[in-house]
Amino acid sequence: MNALITGVTGQDGIHLSGFLLNKGYRVFGMVNGQRQFNDHRIKNLDRRVELVFGDLTDSVSLMNALIESNPTEVYNLAAQSFVGISFTQPELTANVTGMGVLRLLEAIRRLGLESQIKLYQASSSEMFGRVRETPQTELTPFHPRSPYGVAKAFAHHLCVNYREAYSMHISCGILFNHEGPNRGHEFVTRKISSGVAKIALGQSTHLTLGNLDASRDWGYAGDYVEAMWLMQQTDLPDDFVIATGEVHSVREFVEQSLIAANLEPDLDRYVKQDPKFIRPAEVDLLQGDYSKAKEKLGWAPRVTFPQLVNMMVENDLILEAREN
Ligand code: NAP
Ligand code: GDD
Repeated sequence: MNALITGVTGQDGIHLSGFLLNKGYRVFGMVNGQRQFNDHRIKNLDRRVELVFGDLTDSVSLMNALIESNPTEVYNLAAQSFVGISFTQPELTANVTGMGVLRLLEAIRRLGLESQIKLYQASSSEMFGRVRETPQTELTPFHPRSPYGVAKAFAHHLCVNYREAYSMHISCGILFNHEGPNRGHEFVTRKISSGVAKIALGQSTHLTLGNLDASRDWGYAGDYVEAMWLMQQTDLPDDFVIATGEVHSVREFVEQSLIAANLEPDLDRYVKQDPKFIRPAEVDLLQGDYSKAKEKLGWAPRVTFPQLVNMMVENDLILEAREN
């Protein structure tokens, strides 16, 4: 079976490509053509991943990627996925994260592949934004708080519409924050785990962060890609919240990281705050209810919050020691 993953060089792409290869899939990863020459993230991928070239802003390249990979399952993970940048590059974010999904859906239709392909769309808990209820379920109304959240809500509604209008097998995973050693350094968890590792190794004295009170439902990316695959195996496509149901603040993530590095959990000593990391509009708290995924997919998270933090800090202690 052939699977095409867009955004294969990202955190989830790395986990999902490994997961699908282990299941015996032939895995095609879509990457920007120029990256093949110098991107370290491509070098991180399993060598069995076959590269096809394409970009969510280029319809022709999407059609070529679909023709070349001839997939039965497509996982659309590509996005401008950093909320912070979406405030300074809103047009780019709308074009990639929102309109890119329209281009992909239309590419599938133009090639007459609607009944051959099952599509997974990476929807996001960021769509809930200023939450209308807690915990959030598949039925909680959206109130996005960033251009990224708005673009994801557009893409989500579009996928539901194409599912209803053209009977396409499209499932949207409304994934809450998920992290791990492959997380990008722009996101707060990786910024904390690598920053704490530098402090523990004597390479730095403190971390500089924004809002310490923001709270998230943080899970492990390795657990979450399994849910993506399970959604593609159902007879009927649907939308699923994927979360842990547990909430922790940024402050707690720092404390747990300091403990993992055998340092005192003393934020006054190790953390400075800088308003430049505060967002124009914030998502204060996210907490997901994954009951539907548990009931219909048999999915549940495995890695706990302390295990996740330990995994990330231990990984960064090794990386930072090697690099410096
Ligand atoms: P990520 O690490 O930021 O990876 C994003 C991927 O998208 C990268 O491979 C990037 O390629 C690619 N990309 C960016 N612009 C593109 C374009 N114009 N055309 C094609 N590819 C492009 O994100 P992630 O954490 O793996 O998340 C995967 C997906 O899940 C994203 O859609 C994200 O919005 C969504 N999501 C993530 C979370 C989370 O907590 N991680 C939660 C909910 C939803 P380059 O390497 O070339 O830049
Ligand atoms: N990045 C970052 N850097 N965030 C900080 C910082 C900092 O220095 N200080 C505090 N924060 C706060 C942010 O304001 C936010 O409330 C929280 O930490 C988490 O920020 P991120 O790690 O950047 O993640 P996010 O929740 O905005 O978005 C992630 O999760 C979404 C799902 O809810 C991304 O992976 C999105 O792509 C994903 O859709």
